Amino acid sequence: PAFTFDPHPSPVDADERARLLVDPGFGRVFTDHMVTIRYSSAAGWHDARIGPREPLTIDTATAVLHYAQEIFEGLKAYRLADGGTALFRPERNAARFRDSARRMAMAELPEALFLESIRRLVQTEREWIPTLDGGALYLRPFMIASEVFLGVKPSAEYIFAVIASSVGAYFKGGAPAVSLWISENYTRAAPGGTGAAKCGGNYASSLVAQAEAIRQGCDQVLFLDAAERRWIEELGGMNIFFVFDDGMLATPPLTGTILPGITRDSILRIARDLGFEVREEPYAIDQCRADAESGRLREAFACGTAAVVTPIGRMLSRQGDFTIGGGGPGQTTQRLRQTLVGIQTGVAEDRHGWLERL
Ligand code: PLP
Ligand code: COI
Repeated sequence: PAFTFDPHPSPVDADERARLLVDPGFGRVFTDHMVTIRYSSAAGWHDARIGPREPLTIDTATAVLHYAQEIFEGLKAYRLADGGTALFRPERNAARFRDSARRMAMAELPEALFLESIRRLVQTEREWIPTLDGGALYLRPFMIASEVFLGVKPSAEYIFAVIASSVGAYFKGGAPAVSLWISENYTRAAPGGTGAAKCGGNYASSLVAQAEAIRQGCDQVLFLDAAERRWIEELGGMNIFFVFDDGMLATPPLTGTILPGITRDSILRIARDLGFEVREEPYAIDQCRADAESGRLREAFACGTAAVVTPIGRMLSRQGDFTIGGGGPGQTTQRLRQTLVGIQTGVAEDRHGWLERL
């Protein structure tokens, strides 16, 4: 479908925007416009529009409100060192969005339409990219089941939308290293479940575990596998990597219960380019504790679009806590972070053609 553009009648003025962009935090400052595209099984994808960001008015019997048929994505538009604007591997988000839709029995948005939505919104909202270090325009594409019907079945209608938020660091104070609470009471995803899909329900079910982590004085929850409660999976909203004393790196394999992170995939590639050996293999929590105590495990870090690369300094559970390496940012972690951010901001060589200039 062709896009229509309805400019916002009263966009935020330049002074107010500048004030909001000084310290935007994460996910609280929104731009003026949004994309919406509608779907019905009879008409297909139609009504593609960029218009003012405004409330969606939906019936109280709309399917998403009852059975949570909803998916989303998260990616950033970066301000380049030369003043340009770029996306990082957006085609991977488009593909993952389709995979998520399939898992949730939703209509699949063609990848070209996903990408066109993102590009158009970024072009419209370029001025909202913060200039602060680590700042970006966080894009949130999502889709909801919009049929008005209470039977339990895949919706025949959907609304796809993209909103944008000016963001700084995800962790307050740009935390030098975060701490993890090892969740024993709760798991995130079981084999055959929705762990590899980016659906809202995964996050709803993680909140009680995350709240427990906060109560224990930790920044994030670490989930173990649902079957044995033994193998490290991922955090509530990030993948995890380990760095060993022999220079080897490891990250849990994609077995269907963790989100296939685009940052994870990029780190795997970058680490190999830098000459590291990287293994995608299961890592047991008891082994992790033993390796941290013996010094074999030197560093650990979380990675994701929002978190970028964040060092993990400490892990806590009912069995007690342990420190990883010196408890602060490790050398390898910093080197990987610097290379990734360098590519994303156009100052490091983009060997794999990951950057899309707009
Ligand atoms: N794991 C979970 C559960 C996430 O929500 C995210 C964030 O999107 C990630 C991992 C990292 O994925 P990506 O690197 O594609 O942002
Ligand atoms: C992202 O990194 O894009 C996510 O979805 C994670 C969430 C914690 C904001």
